[in-house]
Amino acid sequence: MSKPYDPRDRFYKKAKQEGLRARSAFKIEEIAQRAQLFRRGMAVLDLGAAPGGWLQIISRQIGPEGVVVGIDLQPIKGMGPNVRTAVLDIYAPDLRERLRELHDGSYDVVTSDMAPKTTGVKTTDEARSLDLAEHALHLCAELLKPGGSFVAKVFEGGGFEGYLRQVRAAFSKVKLVRPEATRGRSFEIFVVAQGHRPAPPASTP
Ligand SMILES: C[S@@+](CC[C@H](N)C(=O)[O-])C[C@H]1O[C@@H](n2cnc3c(N)ncnc32)[C@H](O)[C@@H]1O
Repeated sequence: MSKPYDPRDRFYKKAKQEGLRARSAFKIEEIAQRAQLFRRGMAVLDLGAAPGGWLQIISRQIGPEGVVVGIDLQPIKGMGPNVRTAVLDIYAPDLRERLRELHDGSYDVVTSDMAPKTTGVKTTDEARSLDLAEHALHLCAELLKPGGSFVAKVFEGGGFEGYLRQVRAAFSKVKLVRPEATRGRSFEIFVVAQGHRPAPPASTP
């Protein structure tokens, strides 16, 4: 049976003690440690980054010579010098231009902890979560370096297997991770993909 939801569980308390903005910081910390995701000097794009828990962990791990760009519908304030943030919707028509203003280059890692506002209707919430994860994957095709890594949160449900097939086609190694800090009753799972294989450009007739 799944654990009952306790909003002030040990991860909440640990986050408070360590000055982290969100308990979700422990999810990316565990994923990063298991997959050896980040190295000093890397460029990282974090989608759905507010209030900034993942940004705090990533910023520390890439060090002052790295850069992490965080975007969200909500503003993110007061991060360190290697963090650049913007209020930006992944569905915005000018997304690419706005991202280029923040970092004019490709990324070593793209992470997405994006989650839709839940409606309580399971199939709707799953479909919206999957759509966000699909948009994140499409961005990888344009912005992630060959060999780069991708992490995306998905509410597991209908369409998930099809999504996994798309991820497997674009990366050489794909794992599913449910970090310890994921709440007992949550349906969320993290797709951790490494070894990006960008599609070859379409040949001209
Ligand atoms: C679970 S929270 C992220 C927590 C964050 N990783 C942290 O550690 O602080 C999910 C975020 O996804 C964002 N989000 C949802 N839809 C989005 C969209 N269309 N574009 C950008 N961000 C979005 C929400 O605003 C919310 O802040």
